[in-house]
Parts: sequence; structure tokens; C-alpha cells
Amino acid sequence: MAVTSRVLITQPIPEPGPGLLRNFGADVEVSPHDRPLTNVELRDAVRGRDAVLCLLTDRIDAKVLDAAQGCRLFANLAVGFNNIDLAEASRRGILVTNTPGILTEATADLTWALILGIARRVVEGDAEMCNGRYTGWGPSYMLGGDVTGATLGLIGPGRIAVAVARRAVGFRMRLIYHGRRPSPELDALGATLQTLDEVLRESDFVSVHVPLSAETTHLIDEQALARMKPTAYLINTSRGPVVDESALVDALRSGRIAGAGLDVYENEPRMAEGLANCVNTLLLPHLGSATIATRAAMSRMAAENVIAFLQGQRPPNLVNAEVWNSAGNDAPDTGAD
Ligand code: GLV
Repeated sequence: MAVTSRVLITQPIPEPGPGLLRNFGADVEVSPHDRPLTNVELRDAVRGRDAVLCLLTDRIDAKVLDAAQGCRLFANLAVGFNNIDLAEASRRGILVTNTPGILTEATADLTWALILGIARRVVEGDAEMCNGRYTGWGPSYMLGGDVTGATLGLIGPGRIAVAVARRAVGFRMRLIYHGRRPSPELDALGATLQTLDEVLRESDFVSVHVPLSAETTHLIDEQALARMKPTAYLINTSRGPVVDESALVDALRSGRIAGAGLDVYENEPRMAEGLANCVNTLLLPHLGSATIATRAAMSRMAAENVIAFLQGQRPPNLVNAEVWNSAGNDAPDTGAD
């Protein structure tokens, strides 16, 4: 008799993922808590599973991987996978997948909400109206920064940066970017590859789009912020630890930069002390991919990775393809990520 595969979903997620897994015939357990599991709960919950569909809020470290004896796949419901200790997973022969591509446009849209919102003081303006402080139009009232024709500096030339740049063309912006290698997509949009230093010094908006790694942690630190123009804005929709948040608070307080639009934080859900009291910020609670259609697409993609694995096929969005290949599977690495 065929053995039913046991799959854990670490927090309730939108359909169709859970339904697809059940229709496939998997024994699916969804955590009943509408919050991330604690590390202890997670270690307990992964025991005896064949696959785990996890979230970016789950810290999948060596202890969790040890507890997941017999589990051969962690399917992350996110494009970023810095929450998973990839080296430890690979060392144990555990496959890891993510959900690339499908959240690009939603995240680029939200990046633009931050660019326009912080420069044109949209949320502050709304508060003026709702709090009854608006007493009439004034020539010097609530002036902001220009977007059209400004210089947009993209740090990290990946898919989301390209989608942000495409939108910037409509605003006739000058586009510059920093990355390890040229991006044909960005070049085709008229963008110029520059050093990090040049991007920081020349941009009116610095928008961060790098994955989090040891190399990118605190990439935007006190020195980087000091290189920015005093009229420039920092936008971050990537991962919080890329920015040294305490240094950012100092730069905002001292007027070293004009403002910051943030969707991610160094220690989510907390913020660095003082950030909430800075007036020149627009702060969102990690909403980059938070549209109904995008979350459904992520749910489907994560479930499809699990189903492919349970069928003995190569999961389409592997981030550690070498584990698959070294297990004697000869399907080519398509570089899906
Ligand atoms: C969202 O932050 C993601 O990485 O998918």
C-alpha cells in the first residue's frame, strides 16, 4: 500500500496551495496559529514530515533541520530564502525552493508607492486632512521632492530592480545602478552601471534590491548614508538588515538625508529605537508581495514545488540544485532562480 506523504504548512496561507496538496493526496497539517511558530514549536512540528512549506518568518536553522529527520524539502513561500540556513540544508541533502518571479511586479509597485509617498508627503498630507490641520493652500505648505526627471539609483540589478526601472521611464528619470555585473535589461532601459559610491552620491532616490547575505548585511551603513545627497531619499523593499537601521535613524534625525521609505526592518516586527518618531519616513509593514493575486500565485508555486518533489521530480524552483544533482538526478540545472 502506498504511504501517504506528510506535509507541514507552518502557518495558514491563502489557497490554492493547501488545496492542491490535499488534492494530490498528501496528508497536510497546517499550523493552527496565525503567527510564526516559535523555534521550539517549529522543531516539534517538523518531526516526521516528508516536506515542509515554510514562510520567511520561520528561522530554519541547524536545530530545526536536525529535528526534521526524514524531511527532504523545505519549500519557502518567498523569493528571499535568507531565513533558511542553506549551507546546513545542503549539507544534510535537504532541497530548498523559493517563489521567484511572481512577486516582482507587486514589489515594484510598492517600491513606487514608497518613492511617490515619501517624496510628495502623501501620508503626511492625509494626516493633515484627517486631523483637521489643513487650513488652506499655502505657497510654502508641505513642499516635497521632485520625482519626474530625478535620478534613481538601483542597488542590485535583479528582476525587481528592472521592474522598478521600467516604471521610472514614465517619469523620465535618469537611471543608474550598481551590481556585480552589467544587466542587459537595465542597460536596455538606458541605465548606467556605476560604482556603489557613485550611485550613492548621484541619486535623488537610492532604492535597494539585493538579496540578504553576509556580503550585503549593512551594505547601507553610516558611511554609505553619509555619501548620499542631503536631498536624497532611501527606499528599501529588499531585506531589513541590508540597512544599518540605527545609522539610518541618526541620518534621518540629523537631516543628513531627506527621508526614507521602508517596507522591511532589521529585526522584524520591531524597529530600531527612534525610527517611529522620525518625521521624514514612510514606514510599511513588509507589504511588498501583499496582493491577493500575488499571494495566491506564491501559494500555488510553493505547493507545486512540494508536489513535484513528492512525485520524485525536480522541484522547479530549487535554490540548491547541487543537492538534487549530487543525489544522482541528472536533470539539468536550468538556473530557475
Ligand atoms: C518577500 O519579502 C519575499 O522574499 O518573498
